[in-house]
Amino acid sequence: MPSLLERVKESSDFLRSRFKGKSPLIGVILGSGFGDIAREVGSLGFILYKDIPNFPIPTVPGHEGKLWWGERKERCFAILQGRSHFYEGYSMIEITLPIRVLALWGAKLIIITASAGGVSDSINPGDIVLIKDHINLMGENPLRGINEPTLGNRFVDLSNAYDPKVRSVLKEKFNLKEGVYAALSGPSYETPAEIKALKILGADMVGMSVVPETIVARQMGLKVVGIVGITNKAGCTDEGIDITHENVLDSARKIKDKMREIISFCLEELSVDTI
Ligand code: HPA
Repeated sequence: MPSLLERVKESSDFLRSRFKGKSPLIGVILGSGFGDIAREVGSLGFILYKDIPNFPIPTVPGHEGKLWWGERKERCFAILQGRSHFYEGYSMIEITLPIRVLALWGAKLIIITASAGGVSDSINPGDIVLIKDHINLMGENPLRGINEPTLGNRFVDLSNAYDPKVRSVLKEKFNLKEGVYAALSGPSYETPAEIKALKILGADMVGMSVVPETIVARQMGLKVVGIVGITNKAGCTDEGIDITHENVLDSARKIKDKMREIISFCLEELSVDTI
């Protein structure tokens, strides 16, 4: 089996030649319910993950498996419509490979979106929240294993994992809340007792992705912005809506337009020195 570096190189070389030598300045990952944004921000075309060497194929409804490509104001971007999750049975190394590929292809900033359940009392369904920090409760770390120095240091500083400068621009412009994202492996949703525990730990929201991608992006020197759509109150069915994947997707679609506005702003107007 080729090494991780060889696989990442093969994929990024493939994309570079496929897109005529151009590189994206910004990469975006669209989570559950936000997939339509890829087309809506004016992407020019896509390639299926199954046609990109080494890319893991998402198996969950709402995660399409298309890499979109576009250009706005002479700035190129790449959008991953759909992600693979740890709970699908993929390894941490497999689910984070697309991040490494974007980095080697030339991206400088990665916008990671996801849906999540609200944990703290001030975070409610319909909110869009910037991640200011995370708690990794997935039980694994994507950097575990043989270290490949070309892909970054083994011991990665996560003290400012979610870029403070980009966060402050977005917070001000879109009047967004900020919060701490706790990542659990899933795929079951949390019990009320687990949500009580997460509150005590300092989590504001909970989900099943983002964190492995952030860790790997930081290892590779990318700036990271995490933007989360709150689809439900976590561990709580007394709101009259059961927590099901279908309801989570429906709720995410309702906040998709605001998410699109934020992403669109980042693609076109975020100043280059901020990126
Ligand atoms: N828990 C975990 N992940 C989620 C949730 C939740 O309540 N909602 C959307 N993703």
